[in-house]
Amino acid sequence: MFHTEMLSAEEKDLIKAAELIKQGEVVGFPTETVYGLAGNALDPEAVAKIFAAKGRPADNPLIVHLADFSEITEYAEDIPDSAYKLAEIFCPGPITMVVKKKDIIPDITSGGLDTVGIRVPVHKTAHEFIKLCGVPIAAPSANLSGSPSPTSADHVFADMNGRIPAIIDGGYCPVGVESTVVSFEGNAVRILRPGFVSGEDIKNAGFEVLYAKGVTERIDEGERVLSPGMKYKHYAPKAEVTIVDGDLEQFTEYVKKHYKAGTYSMIFDDDVLTFPYPYITYGNTAEEHARMLFGVLREADEIGAKQVFARCPSTDGVGLAVYNRLLRAAAFRVEKL
Ligand code: TXA
Ligand code: MG
Repeated sequence: MFHTEMLSAEEKDLIKAAELIKQGEVVGFPTETVYGLAGNALDPEAVAKIFAAKGRPADNPLIVHLADFSEITEYAEDIPDSAYKLAEIFCPGPITMVVKKKDIIPDITSGGLDTVGIRVPVHKTAHEFIKLCGVPIAAPSANLSGSPSPTSADHVFADMNGRIPAIIDGGYCPVGVESTVVSFEGNAVRILRPGFVSGEDIKNAGFEVLYAKGVTERIDEGERVLSPGMKYKHYAPKAEVTIVDGDLEQFTEYVKKHYKAGTYSMIFDDDVLTFPYPYITYGNTAEEHARMLFGVLREADEIGAKQVFARCPSTDGVGLAVYNRLLRAAAFRVEKL
């Protein structure tokens, strides 16, 4: 058991956090997407502590975070030209590139795979912290395995209190959903997990874009997947979540018909004037949905929701990432009206 200390984003505290990393400990830290649980990616014992703190299955690989993309050659080999071309446009930023790993990356970090996901956060505090650590930082999202990802230091504290020595409080995460995870196939880029960098963005950069199974459909038990994280139930609050796909009028009728005690609706900000049932809002635009989604799923638990009906977001741009996470929170229950 640790007494979990809240650190600020000031340099003296970041130095303290980096000291903990050098000692082989695990620290919660902010990024532009979600909070991460940091440990030295080259130290199998530190990485084992990350898996233990999260209760994460051992076959789910961790992303390795670097202060600068140019360091990629120390940890990966056979790096395709496409990766450099993508990096020029999107790095630093909310994208993770899966490439062939070098032996220096321990098997525990890569979940036994021969590849490694490399990401260079653009968040100022994340960048400074990683630089101070002086080692590549393995970091999954800083939630307990299966819970919604944390987008504030308080969310991290709620899940990790007593499990880790410290959390760097950098305020709310501006993107709110995890990075876009991609792999390379010839000249094509395959999206393994949608995020803020969208398929359209990558297409506009001159690539053919492919989508892995699991982005919008369920993966069957025992099925082999390109990104192991996609097969796990994820982001789920305790309430039973259902995505209800229809206009506001149809949605309201649906809620009326299925209403019982403990029902909350996840609606758009613009819906509140006429919506007559208990609700939580999650913005109007795809960017707002992304920023608010995980906080709202946590709020559903706090208010004791038993049943949540969510208005279906548009899947344009970062909306696809929102829909992908919401589908998992809903265990793939979608009502098409
Ligand atoms: O935005 C993010 O990516 C955040 C912040 C902290 O950087 N991190 C994050 O990590 O979301 P995590 O561990 O919660 O999700 C990583 C996802 C998982 O679905 C995992 O299976 C996939 O990326 N992944 C990691 N390495 C991979 C690899 N070598 N091949 C395929 N998928 C990989
Ligand atoms: Mg995660």
